[in-house]
Amino acid sequence: MDNPQCVVILDFGGQYTQLIARRVRECGVFSQVLPATAKLGTIRQLRPHGVILSGGPASVTDEGAPKIDPAVFELGVPVLGICYGMQLMAHHHGAPVVRGEAREYGRTPVTMDETQTGLLAGISAQSQCWMSHTFQVARAPEGFRVIAHTPNCPVAAMADEKRGLYGVQFHPEVTHTEEGLVLLRNFLLNICHLKGDWNMEAYAEMAIRQIRDIVGDGTVLLGLSGGVDSAVAAALLYRAIGDRLTCVYVDHGMMRAGESEQVVEVFTKTFPVRLVSVDASEECFADLKGVRDPERKRKIIGRDFMRVFKREAEKLGRLDFFAQGTIYPDVIESGKAKGSAVIKSHHNVGGLPKKLGFKKLVEPLRMLFKDEVRALGLALGLPESLVRRQPFPGPGLAIRIVGDITPEKVRIVRQSDLILREEFAAAGLDKAVSQYFTVLTGARSVGVMGDERTYAYAVAIRAVTTDDFMTADVARIPYELLGRLSSRIIGEVAGVNRVLYDVTTKPPASIEWE
Ligand code: XMP
Repeated sequence: MDNPQCVVILDFGGQYTQLIARRVRECGVFSQVLPATAKLGTIRQLRPHGVILSGGPASVTDEGAPKIDPAVFELGVPVLGICYGMQLMAHHHGAPVVRGEAREYGRTPVTMDETQTGLLAGISAQSQCWMSHTFQVARAPEGFRVIAHTPNCPVAAMADEKRGLYGVQFHPEVTHTEEGLVLLRNFLLNICHLKGDWNMEAYAEMAIRQIRDIVGDGTVLLGLSGGVDSAVAAALLYRAIGDRLTCVYVDHGMMRAGESEQVVEVFTKTFPVRLVSVDASEECFADLKGVRDPERKRKIIGRDFMRVFKREAEKLGRLDFFAQGTIYPDVIESGKAKGSAVIKSHHNVGGLPKKLGFKKLVEPLRMLFKDEVRALGLALGLPESLVRRQPFPGPGLAIRIVGDITPEKVRIVRQSDLILREEFAAAGLDKAVSQYFTVLTGARSVGVMGDERTYAYAVAIRAVTTDDFMTADVARIPYELLGRLSSRIIGEVAGVNRVLYDVTTKPPASIEWE
């Protein structure tokens, strides 16, 4: 396949740049993000059908404000400037960019002055848009027309069709801009004349070629975690380099029912990589014996995971590259504000390549958001049940057991979790609820089963809805379902005589219990 038609996004450090790339992909167009300082030659090489200038924190009038090679405006392809990008375009064409009288921030109604054709075709005359700016273009540069405004912002959008230059002060890429996608589609399909036929199959093909270019005839090591991202990365790498990919899967004994088995099956049958699957459960249980503190549990599992992984990797001898299923939100997270309080130390494999002495990394999912990763997994032929797995914490069921951990307690959470998953799927709730699981509360209480007194564990059900997992609401699930869950869990899981529903939002509670 030839290189796909593409749009280049020049990044001025705006917080939504990757979101622009993602929305462009949603319109069926491939996009590449380059730093604003990219050389004209680099941009030309990609043969873009259009250029988008992102937003950014600077002000164009500042000394040292980021600029682009002005020849970008003369590339002969349409250019869309967003926020800072529009201000730069205006400034370059001689228009004043000034501090606005009032800052506009958040949802703002914008009057669209030209909605018949062009950039704003088909958009409502008054449309809710997301604004976030202190500076603004005071009047349109010569050759440009104002095509949208607000009471505070005289140039909310501008166009010069002859030169193919367009600017918007608001952010069409943000979902709060209600008709943002219409605007982007107008730009891409009508103005840049792109076909809009790009999809995940095309992405897979391109990523496979890129991996082959990077890896050459080298070998790659990848740690499978049992989660979606590393599985999709492995499937992609397998398609690119076949059995020159070696995967190591460390089962710490805290996985959900059936998940380890599925990982092993998929990566020996559908994607027959060189798979090293290690059962480290005994080691982990031994190290966790008697440990009650949540942070210590997390640390022990993280450390054991590293140790086992390292041991297995060393047995494999020298491999050339280390692959990771890092996805775009991880990239953002790792750049997150320093000094914020550690609520829970997350178990992840971030430090692995360094510890193992790898200098060369392959991260084929770095540009993708979670739902795109899932779409890619399906396009590659991974089973839906694996691709649609809900998020699962690295330390697994260990942080769903309050107090010390024993194989018996893990059995209780695992069995009750499976019942919950079955019932949620049967009730059609598995897609509507963001995360759901059971917790062994550690509390034991008196009950009566048959004619016998029991003294057994209370299991809690946790089910939340959330977009970003930073805050979460309690899922409203029907009482009948709660009743069925209670009787099934108590009837089928030995050692449980009470079922509770956790009705706490996050905050104040976290989603996981430990
Ligand atoms: P909390 O409990 O902090 O969870 O409200 C928020 C989300 O993060 C997941 N989680 C983890 N994910 N490693 C992970 O990869 C971890 O150590 C970990 N701890 C919590 C949790 O399942 C929820 O989705």
